[in-house]
Amino acid sequence: FMPQLSIVVPTFNEAGNVAELRDRIDAALPGVDWEMIYVDDDSPDGTSATVRELAQRDSRVRCIQRIGRRGLSSACIEGMLASSAPLVAVIDADLQHDERLLPAMFDVLRDEEIDVVVGSRYTEGGSMEGWDRSRAATSRFATKLSRLVLKADLQDTMSGFFMIRRAVVERCAKAGMSGVGFKILLDLFATSPTPLRCRELPYEFRNRFSGESKLDTMVAWEYFIMLLDHYFGRVVPIRFIAFSLVGLLGLVVHLFVLSMLFRGAGMSFLWAQASATMIAMTFNFVINNVLTYRDMQLRGWKLLRGWLSFTLACSIGALANVGIASYLFDQRAYWVLSAVAGVLVGAVWNYAVTAVYTWKKPNSG
Ligand code: GDD
Ligand code: MN
Repeated sequence: FMPQLSIVVPTFNEAGNVAELRDRIDAALPGVDWEMIYVDDDSPDGTSATVRELAQRDSRVRCIQRIGRRGLSSACIEGMLASSAPLVAVIDADLQHDERLLPAMFDVLRDEEIDVVVGSRYTEGGSMEGWDRSRAATSRFATKLSRLVLKADLQDTMSGFFMIRRAVVERCAKAGMSGVGFKILLDLFATSPTPLRCRELPYEFRNRFSGESKLDTMVAWEYFIMLLDHYFGRVVPIRFIAFSLVGLLGLVVHLFVLSMLFRGAGMSFLWAQASATMIAMTFNFVINNVLTYRDMQLRGWKLLRGWLSFTLACSIGALANVGIASYLFDQRAYWVLSAVAGVLVGAVWNYAVTAVYTWKKPNSG
Protein backbone atom coordinates (compact mmCIF):
# COMPACT_ATOMS: atom_id res chain seq x y z
CA PHE A 1 0.00 0.00 0.00
CA MET A 2 1.51 3.27 -1.16
CA PRO A 3 -0.70 6.26 -0.53
CA GLN A 4 -1.27 8.50 -3.55
CA LEU A 5 -3.25 10.94 -1.49
CA SER A 6 -3.10 12.00 2.16
CA ILE A 7 -6.17 13.59 3.63
CA VAL A 8 -5.30 15.86 6.51
CA VAL A 9 -8.09 16.56 8.98
CA PRO A 10 -7.50 19.16 11.71
CA THR A 11 -9.67 18.44 14.72
CA PHE A 12 -10.67 20.04 17.95
CA ASN A 13 -13.58 18.36 19.75
CA GLU A 14 -14.77 16.41 16.74
CA ALA A 15 -15.11 12.92 18.24
CA GLY A 16 -18.62 12.59 16.85
CA ASN A 17 -17.47 13.19 13.28
CA VAL A 18 -14.33 11.06 13.01
CA ALA A 19 -15.84 7.74 11.91
CA GLU A 20 -18.52 9.27 9.71
CA LEU A 21 -15.91 11.26 7.79
CA ARG A 22 -13.76 8.16 7.22
CA ASP A 23 -16.80 6.29 5.87
CA ARG A 24 -17.69 9.09 3.50
CA ILE A 25 -14.10 9.48 2.28
CA ASP A 26 -13.97 5.76 1.69
CA ALA A 27 -17.14 5.92 -0.37
CA ALA A 28 -15.98 8.99 -2.29
CA LEU A 29 -12.57 7.71 -3.36
CA PRO A 30 -12.82 4.25 -4.89
CA GLY A 31 -9.70 3.39 -6.87
CA VAL A 32 -7.47 5.85 -5.04
CA ASP A 33 -4.94 4.74 -2.43
CA TRP A 34 -5.60 7.27 0.30
CA GLU A 35 -4.65 7.70 3.94
CA MET A 36 -6.14 9.97 6.58
CA ILE A 37 -4.10 11.97 9.07
CA TYR A 38 -6.12 13.48 11.87
CA VAL A 39 -4.23 16.26 13.64
CA ASP A 40 -5.84 16.71 17.03
CA ASP A 41 -4.87 19.31 19.60
CA ASP A 42 -5.54 17.00 22.53
CA SER A 43 -9.27 17.72 22.46
CA PRO A 44 -11.02 17.42 25.84
CA ASP A 45 -13.74 15.31 24.21
CA GLY A 46 -11.20 12.56 23.50
CA THR A 47 -11.04 12.95 19.72
CA SER A 48 -7.48 11.56 19.69
CA ALA A 49 -8.52 8.34 21.39
CA THR A 50 -11.48 8.02 19.04
CA VAL A 51 -9.15 8.34 16.04
CA ARG A 52 -6.74 5.75 17.45
CA GLU A 53 -9.61 3.30 17.98
CA LEU A 54 -10.55 3.78 14.36
CA ALA A 55 -6.91 3.39 13.32
CA GLN A 56 -6.82 -0.01 15.08
CA ARG A 57 -9.47 -1.17 12.64
CA ASP A 58 -8.32 0.78 9.56
CA SER A 59 -4.58 1.12 9.01
CA ARG A 60 -5.08 3.94 6.51
CA VAL A 61 -6.03 6.16 9.45
CA ARG A 62 -3.66 7.69 11.97
CA CYS A 63 -3.56 10.42 14.56
CA ILE A 64 -1.10 13.16 15.32
CA GLN A 65 -1.88 14.20 18.87
CA ARG A 66 -0.45 17.59 19.71
CA ILE A 67 -0.22 18.45 23.37
CA GLY A 68 -0.01 21.98 24.74
CA ARG A 69 -0.63 23.63 21.39
CA ARG A 70 -3.57 25.06 19.51
CA GLY A 71 -4.11 26.35 16.01
CA LEU A 72 -5.81 25.29 12.82
CA SER A 73 -3.09 26.45 10.41
CA SER A 74 -0.19 24.93 12.29
CA ALA A 75 -2.14 21.66 12.62
CA CYS A 76 -2.69 21.54 8.86
CA ILE A 77 0.96 22.25 8.12
CA GLU A 78 2.13 19.52 10.48
CA GLY A 79 -0.31 17.03 9.02
CA MET A 80 0.72 17.78 5.45
CA LEU A 81 4.41 17.52 6.27
CA ALA A 82 3.82 14.20 8.02
CA SER A 83 2.44 12.75 4.81
CA SER A 84 4.42 10.60 2.39
CA ALA A 85 1.96 10.92 -0.49
CA PRO A 86 2.73 13.32 -3.35
CA LEU A 87 -0.72 14.90 -3.03
CA VAL A 88 -2.37 16.12 0.15
CA ALA A 89 -5.87 17.39 0.83
CA VAL A 90 -7.10 19.37 3.80
CA ILE A 91 -10.71 18.97 4.86
CA ASP A 92 -12.67 19.94 7.97
CA ALA A 93 -13.82 17.13 10.23
CA ASP A 94 -17.37 18.41 10.60
CA LEU A 95 -18.50 17.35 7.10
CA GLN A 96 -19.23 20.90 5.99
CA HIS A 97 -16.87 20.37 3.08
CA ASP A 98 -18.20 18.09 0.37
CA GLU A 99 -15.89 15.07 0.19
CA ARG A 100 -17.45 14.12 -3.15
CA LEU A 101 -15.34 16.91 -4.67
CA LEU A 102 -12.12 15.04 -3.85
CA PRO A 103 -11.99 12.82 -6.98
CA ALA A 104 -12.31 15.85 -9.26
CA MET A 105 -9.57 17.66 -7.32
CA PHE A 106 -7.41 14.56 -7.58
CA ASP A 107 -7.88 14.34 -11.36
CA VAL A 108 -6.87 17.97 -11.86
CA LEU A 109 -3.62 17.56 -9.95
CA ARG A 110 -2.83 14.24 -11.61
CA ASP A 111 -3.47 15.47 -15.16
CA GLU A 112 -2.59 19.16 -15.16
CA GLU A 113 0.22 21.53 -14.31
CA ILE A 114 -1.61 22.93 -11.32
CA ASP A 115 -0.24 23.34 -7.78
CA VAL A 116 -3.42 23.62 -5.77
CA VAL A 117 -7.12 22.94 -6.28
CA VAL A 118 -9.44 24.88 -4.02
CA GLY A 119 -12.98 23.93 -3.05
CA SER A 120 -14.84 27.17 -3.56
CA ARG A 121 -18.09 28.51 -2.20
CA TYR A 122 -18.06 31.51 -4.48
CA THR A 123 -17.48 30.40 -8.03
CA GLU A 124 -20.60 29.78 -10.03
CA GLY A 125 -22.45 26.79 -8.68
CA GLY A 126 -20.95 27.14 -5.22
CA SER A 127 -23.13 28.15 -2.31
CA MET A 128 -23.56 28.25 1.43
CA GLU A 129 -26.34 26.26 2.92
CA GLY A 130 -27.97 27.88 5.93
CA TRP A 131 -25.71 30.92 6.31
CA ASP A 132 -27.42 34.06 7.51
CA ARG A 133 -26.89 37.27 5.62
CA SER A 134 -24.49 38.93 8.07
CA ARG A 135 -22.14 35.95 8.28
CA ALA A 136 -22.11 35.68 4.50
CA ALA A 137 -21.43 39.43 4.17
CA THR A 138 -18.60 39.37 6.74
CA SER A 139 -17.03 36.42 5.01
CA ARG A 140 -17.28 38.16 1.62
CA PHE A 141 -15.70 41.33 3.01
CA ALA A 142 -12.76 39.49 4.56
CA THR A 143 -12.34 37.65 1.28
CA LYS A 144 -12.20 40.91 -0.69
CA LEU A 145 -9.62 42.27 1.75
CA SER A 146 -7.46 39.20 1.40
CA ARG A 147 -7.49 39.37 -2.38
CA LEU A 148 -5.51 42.58 -2.04
CA VAL A 149 -2.71 40.61 -0.40
CA LEU A 150 -2.68 37.69 -2.78
CA LYS A 151 -0.91 37.47 -6.05
CA ALA A 152 -3.28 34.80 -7.28
CA ASP A 153 -6.71 35.17 -8.77
CA LEU A 154 -8.69 33.20 -6.24
CA GLN A 155 -12.36 33.65 -5.41
CA ASP A 156 -12.64 31.79 -2.11
CA THR A 157 -9.43 32.77 -0.33
CA MET A 158 -10.91 31.72 3.01
CA SER A 159 -11.55 28.15 1.98
CA GLY A 160 -10.31 25.50 4.38
CA PHE A 161 -10.88 22.81 1.75
CA PHE A 162 -8.20 22.18 -0.87
CA MET A 163 -5.78 19.71 -2.43
CA ILE A 164 -2.14 20.56 -3.04
CA ARG A 165 1.18 19.04 -4.03
CA ARG A 166 3.14 18.10 -0.94
CA ALA A 167 6.36 19.51 -2.41
CA VAL A 168 4.72 22.93 -2.65
CA VAL A 169 3.76 22.82 1.01
CA GLU A 170 7.28 21.91 2.00
CA ARG A 171 8.67 24.78 -0.05
CA CYS A 172 6.26 27.23 1.60
CA ALA A 173 7.00 25.89 5.08
CA LYS A 174 10.69 26.42 4.47
CA ALA A 175 10.07 29.90 3.10
CA GLY A 176 8.57 30.75 6.49
CA MET A 177 4.79 30.48 6.68
CA SER A 178 3.38 32.23 9.71
CA GLY A 179 1.33 29.17 10.74
CA VAL A 180 -0.70 31.41 13.00
CA GLY A 181 -4.48 31.58 12.92
CA PHE A 182 -6.80 29.68 10.62
CA LYS A 183 -6.22 31.08 7.14
CA ILE A 184 -3.97 28.32 5.93
CA LEU A 185 -4.66 28.91 2.24
CA LEU A 186 -3.87 32.63 2.44
CA ASP A 187 -0.73 31.73 4.30
CA LEU A 188 0.35 29.33 1.54
CA PHE A 189 -0.35 31.76 -1.28
CA ALA A 190 1.30 34.69 0.45
CA THR A 191 4.42 32.73 1.36
CA SER A 192 5.08 30.71 -1.77
CA PRO A 193 8.32 31.86 -3.45
CA THR A 194 6.72 31.30 -6.87
CA PRO A 195 3.10 32.18 -7.71
CA LEU A 196 0.87 29.16 -7.16
CA ARG A 197 -1.00 27.84 -10.16
CA CYS A 198 -4.50 27.24 -8.89
CA ARG A 199 -7.90 26.02 -9.93
CA GLU A 200 -11.21 26.45 -8.14
CA LEU A 201 -14.00 23.90 -8.09
CA PRO A 202 -17.41 24.85 -6.72
CA TYR A 203 -19.20 22.96 -3.99
CA GLU A 204 -21.99 23.49 -1.52
CA PHE A 205 -20.89 24.32 2.03
CA ARG A 206 -23.06 22.16 4.29
CA ASN A 207 -24.18 22.39 7.89
CA ARG A 208 -22.13 20.81 10.64
CA PHE A 209 -22.72 17.10 11.23
CA SER A 210 -21.93 17.06 14.96
CA GLY A 211 -20.31 19.37 17.53
CA GLU A 212 -19.86 23.13 17.26
CA SER A 213 -17.67 25.69 15.47
CA LYS A 214 -14.44 26.86 17.08
CA LEU A 215 -13.80 29.79 14.83
CA ASP A 216 -16.42 32.19 16.15
CA THR A 217 -14.28 34.03 18.65
CA MET A 218 -10.95 35.71 18.05
CA VAL A 219 -11.14 35.04 14.35
CA ALA A 220 -10.94 38.69 13.36
CA TRP A 221 -7.92 39.23 15.59
CA GLU A 222 -6.01 36.25 14.22
CA TYR A 223 -6.85 37.26 10.69
CA PHE A 224 -5.68 40.82 11.29
CA ILE A 225 -2.43 39.61 12.85
CA MET A 226 -1.78 37.30 9.93
CA LEU A 227 -2.18 40.10 7.42
CA LEU A 228 0.18 42.26 9.50
CA ASP A 229 2.61 39.40 9.71
CA HIS A 230 2.73 39.06 5.96
CA TYR A 231 3.63 42.72 5.66
CA PHE A 232 6.01 43.11 8.58
CA GLY A 233 6.69 39.56 9.76
CA ARG A 234 10.09 39.32 8.13
CA VAL A 235 11.31 42.37 10.03
CA VAL A 236 9.66 42.01 13.43
CA PRO A 237 8.52 38.73 15.02
CA ILE A 238 4.77 38.27 14.94
CA ARG A 239 4.42 37.90 18.69
CA PHE A 240 6.16 41.16 19.24
CA ILE A 241 3.68 42.87 16.91
CA ALA A 242 0.79 41.36 18.85
CA PHE A 243 2.42 42.14 22.18
CA SER A 244 2.93 45.75 21.11
CA LEU A 245 -0.67 46.14 19.99
CA VAL A 246 -1.85 44.78 23.32
CA GLY A 247 0.67 47.03 25.02
CA LEU A 248 -0.82 50.01 23.24
CA LEU A 249 -4.20 49.05 24.67
CA GLY A 250 -2.55 48.71 28.07
CA LEU A 251 -1.16 52.20 27.67
CA VAL A 252 -4.69 53.53 27.17
CA VAL A 253 -5.80 51.72 30.32
CA HIS A 254 -2.76 53.03 32.14
CA LEU A 255 -3.33 56.64 31.17
CA PHE A 256 -7.01 56.38 31.97
CA VAL A 257 -6.40 55.02 35.48
CA LEU A 258 -3.57 57.46 36.03
CA SER A 259 -5.65 60.49 35.11
CA MET A 260 -8.52 59.25 37.28
CA LEU A 261 -6.27 58.86 40.30
CA PHE A 262 -3.86 61.75 39.77
CA ARG A 263 -6.09 64.42 38.30
CA GLY A 264 -9.46 63.11 39.45
CA ALA A 265 -8.83 61.76 42.94
CA GLY A 266 -5.85 63.99 43.70
CA MET A 267 -3.50 61.11 44.53
CA SER A 268 0.24 61.87 44.47
CA PHE A 269 1.80 61.27 41.05
CA LEU A 270 4.09 58.55 42.37
CA TRP A 271 1.21 56.53 43.86
CA ALA A 272 -1.08 57.15 40.93
CA GLN A 273 1.59 55.97 38.50
CA ALA A 274 2.37 52.91 40.63
CA SER A 275 -1.31 51.91 40.88
CA ALA A 276 -1.90 52.49 37.19
CA THR A 277 1.12 50.30 36.42
CA MET A 278 -0.24 47.41 38.50
CA ILE A 279 -3.65 47.59 36.89
CA ALA A 280 -2.27 47.91 33.37
CA MET A 281 0.10 44.99 34.05
CA THR A 282 -2.71 42.67 35.07
CA PHE A 283 -4.78 43.84 32.12
CA ASN A 284 -1.89 43.12 29.75
CA PHE A 285 -1.32 39.68 31.23
CA VAL A 286 -4.94 38.68 30.72
CA ILE A 287 -5.19 40.02 27.17
CA ASN A 288 -1.82 38.62 26.08
CA ASN A 289 -2.81 35.24 27.43
CA VAL A 290 -5.97 35.28 25.34
CA LEU A 291 -4.57 36.86 22.17
CA THR A 292 -0.77 36.94 21.84
CA TYR A 293 -0.18 33.54 23.40
CA ARG A 294 -3.50 32.03 22.39
CA ASP A 295 -1.77 28.92 21.09
CA MET A 296 -0.14 28.30 24.47
CA GLN A 297 -2.87 29.81 26.59
CA LEU A 298 -2.52 29.27 30.33
CA ARG A 299 -5.61 27.99 32.12
CA GLY A 300 -6.73 26.98 35.60
CA TRP A 301 -3.90 26.78 38.10
CA LYS A 302 -1.34 27.50 35.42
CA LEU A 303 -3.12 30.79 34.86
CA LEU A 304 -2.56 31.78 38.46
CA ARG A 305 1.06 30.68 38.33
CA GLY A 306 1.50 32.54 35.05
CA TRP A 307 0.04 35.71 36.50
CA LEU A 308 2.34 35.34 39.49
CA SER A 309 5.46 34.84 37.37
CA PHE A 310 4.33 37.66 35.09
CA THR A 311 3.93 39.99 38.04
CA LEU A 312 7.15 38.89 39.71
CA ALA A 313 9.22 39.04 36.55
CA CYS A 314 7.78 42.41 35.66
CA SER A 315 8.15 44.00 39.07
CA ILE A 316 11.67 45.04 38.16
CA GLY A 317 10.28 46.53 34.95
CA ALA A 318 7.57 48.22 36.98
CA LEU A 319 10.16 49.68 39.36
CA ALA A 320 12.13 51.05 36.44
CA ASN A 321 8.87 52.33 34.98
CA VAL A 322 7.83 54.19 38.13
CA GLY A 323 11.39 55.34 38.82
CA ILE A 324 11.95 56.79 35.37
CA ALA A 325 8.49 58.34 35.18
CA SER A 326 8.71 60.08 38.54
CA TYR A 327 12.29 61.18 37.86
CA LEU A 328 11.18 62.82 34.59
CA PHE A 329 8.16 64.30 36.33
CA ASP A 330 10.41 65.79 39.01
CA GLN A 331 12.52 67.27 36.20
CA ARG A 332 9.35 69.14 35.22
CA ALA A 333 8.58 66.96 32.18
CA TYR A 334 4.90 66.97 31.17
CA TRP A 335 3.06 64.30 33.20
CA VAL A 336 1.84 62.33 30.16
CA LEU A 337 5.33 62.18 28.68
CA SER A 338 6.78 61.06 31.99
CA ALA A 339 4.25 58.28 32.21
CA VAL A 340 4.76 57.11 28.61
CA ALA A 341 8.54 56.98 28.99
CA GLY A 342 8.16 54.87 32.13
CA VAL A 343 5.69 52.55 30.45
CA LEU A 344 7.95 52.06 27.38
CA VAL A 345 10.94 50.94 29.41
CA GLY A 346 8.69 48.62 31.39
CA ALA A 347 7.10 47.21 28.23
CA VAL A 348 10.34 46.13 26.54
CA TRP A 349 11.43 44.50 29.76
CA ASN A 350 8.07 42.79 30.17
CA TYR A 351 8.15 41.32 26.68
CA ALA A 352 11.67 39.95 26.96
CA VAL A 353 11.23 38.43 30.41
CA THR A 354 7.69 37.02 30.09
CA ALA A 355 8.46 35.44 26.71
CA VAL A 356 10.96 33.30 28.57
CA TYR A 357 9.33 32.76 31.96
CA THR A 358 5.57 33.09 31.63
CA TRP A 359 4.70 31.51 28.29
CA LYS A 360 7.32 28.84 27.81
CA LYS A 361 7.57 27.33 24.37
CA PRO A 362 6.86 23.58 24.38
CA ASN A 363 10.34 22.28 23.42
CA SER A 364 10.20 23.57 19.88
CA GLY A 365 11.87 26.29 17.90
N1 GDD B 1 -6.05 20.78 15.38
C1 GDD B 1 -6.89 21.83 15.46
N2 GDD B 1 -6.57 22.87 16.28
N3 GDD B 1 -8.04 21.83 14.74
C2 GDD B 1 -8.86 22.90 14.85
C3 GDD B 1 -8.58 23.99 15.68
C4 GDD B 1 -7.37 23.96 16.44
O1 GDD B 1 -7.03 24.88 17.18
N4 GDD B 1 -9.62 24.89 15.55
C5 GDD B 1 -10.48 24.34 14.70
N5 GDD B 1 -10.06 23.14 14.27
C6 GDD B 1 -10.70 22.23 13.30
C7 GDD B 1 -12.13 21.89 13.63
O2 GDD B 1 -12.22 20.78 14.49
C8 GDD B 1 -12.69 21.60 12.26
O3 GDD B 1 -12.41 20.28 11.83
C9 GDD B 1 -11.94 22.57 11.37
O4 GDD B 1 -10.75 22.90 12.07
C10 GDD B 1 -12.73 23.84 11.07
O5 GDD B 1 -13.18 24.40 12.28
P1 GDD B 1 -14.68 24.91 12.47
O6 GDD B 1 -14.80 25.33 13.88
O7 GDD B 1 -15.65 23.90 11.94
O8 GDD B 1 -14.63 26.19 11.51
P2 GDD B 1 -15.79 26.88 10.71
O9 GDD B 1 -16.74 25.91 10.15
O10 GDD B 1 -16.32 28.01 11.51
O11 GDD B 1 -14.90 27.55 9.52
C11 GDD B 1 -14.75 26.92 8.28
O12 GDD B 1 -15.10 27.83 7.31
C12 GDD B 1 -14.20 28.91 7.17
C13 GDD B 1 -14.70 29.83 6.12
O13 GDD B 1 -15.58 30.73 6.66
C14 GDD B 1 -13.33 26.40 8.05
O14 GDD B 1 -13.32 25.59 6.89
C15 GDD B 1 -12.33 27.49 7.84
O15 GDD B 1 -11.10 26.92 7.43
C16 GDD B 1 -12.84 28.39 6.78
O16 GDD B 1 -11.96 29.47 6.62
MN1 MN C 1 -16.98 23.96 10.47
